[in-house]
Amino acid sequence: MNPIFSALQTSVFEVMSQLARETGAVNLGQGFPDDPGPEDVRRKAAEAVMTGWNQYPPMMGLPELREATAAHYKRWQGLDLDPASEIMVTSGATEAIAGALMALITPGDEVVLFEPMYDAYVPLVRRAGGIPKFVTLTPPAFGLTEAALAQAFGPKTRVVLFNNPLNPTATIFSEADLDLLAQFCVRHDAVAICDEVWEHVVFDGRRHVPMLARPGMRERTVKISSAGKIFSLTGWKVGLVMAAPRLMRVLAKAHQYITFTTPPNLQAAVAYGLGKEDSYFETMRADFQRSRDRFAAGLKALDYAVLPSVGTYFLNVDIAPLGESDDVAFCKRLVTESGVAAIPVSAFYAEGAVRTIVRFCFAKHDATLDAALDRLESRRAKAAAR
Ligand SMILES: Cc1ncc(COP(=O)(O)O)c(C=O)c1O
Repeated sequence: MNPIFSALQTSVFEVMSQLARETGAVNLGQGFPDDPGPEDVRRKAAEAVMTGWNQYPPMMGLPELREATAAHYKRWQGLDLDPASEIMVTSGATEAIAGALMALITPGDEVVLFEPMYDAYVPLVRRAGGIPKFVTLTPPAFGLTEAALAQAFGPKTRVVLFNNPLNPTATIFSEADLDLLAQFCVRHDAVAICDEVWEHVVFDGRRHVPMLARPGMRERTVKISSAGKIFSLTGWKVGLVMAAPRLMRVLAKAHQYITFTTPPNLQAAVAYGLGKEDSYFETMRADFQRSRDRFAAGLKALDYAVLPSVGTYFLNVDIAPLGESDDVAFCKRLVTESGVAAIPVSAFYAEGAVRTIVRFCFAKHDATLDAALDRLESRRAKAAAR
């Protein structure tokens, strides 16, 4: 058995979900919306299953989806991408990340990672033979510093794996941070694999700034997006990869031998969805923002120290003011004693973990959020009565 995978513990996401199932807790741990997703996009997928092509689609993705992707990112992010040579469709962002790591790393290469980070990153980097070098981000800003980057980058750095907007912190890196990282990538001749799956889920009028458009990065960035996040259909697993032809040629070879293709009917529906009018995207953001505000207001009324959330489906709470110093223990008590499942943010760190932040998913119906708040209120009342 490969020790990288056999040594992995059951993830805290699974532990918390299991506890939530056993106790009948309101599950604000897992990051998926209660809402079923846009009906017209789902209908397109259904039509494509019934009347469209259901055999192997082209390895790089349906031409109509690659055309739609180019048009979409021109419209939303000002990118000029050639659909024929710079866009590929994968089975989710996760396949795109795994494939990019396999394609770009030679065993012994160093990979710069920013923690807290998505849980798949470290095992995938290690399995590709990469040596992780961590930059630890700390609250409240979770930003970059020149000193931290200088410590992580070295002569063996080949790849940087960078997530923006950042899950789990619900923060967005500033343009100054992006340019600082770009300078390091250029200086060290490193490729940036940019996991931008949350690019459309940004709030308060913000617009996502893609790393690929920053100075010096056009030829050294792999931009990864996910239809699952763009259309609130997290189970669809349709990933979009964008990179200059020199990189795309090798990324395509990895994809060719991992999944080769992605269901054509879902691709057809995503092609349709990417062309939806601006109002769809604005309404989607506004709806999530309203849920964020509802849940944040409820938590604040219960005296929780709520950290700012400017993107993603998540809202974080600082539990240090409650006298708590172990987020895992806190979350276990929260789910078993109070019936609310959340995720301890220390689970997203490989080393140097911050242990006083807890992540809640607010992409839920009002009734679900209100039920969680009611339970937190009872918890507070019980604590006060003690
Ligand atoms: C940062 C990040 N990257 C990748 C993914 C996975 O994307 P996909 O479902 O398209 O594989 C997620 C899902 O939550 C995520 O938060």
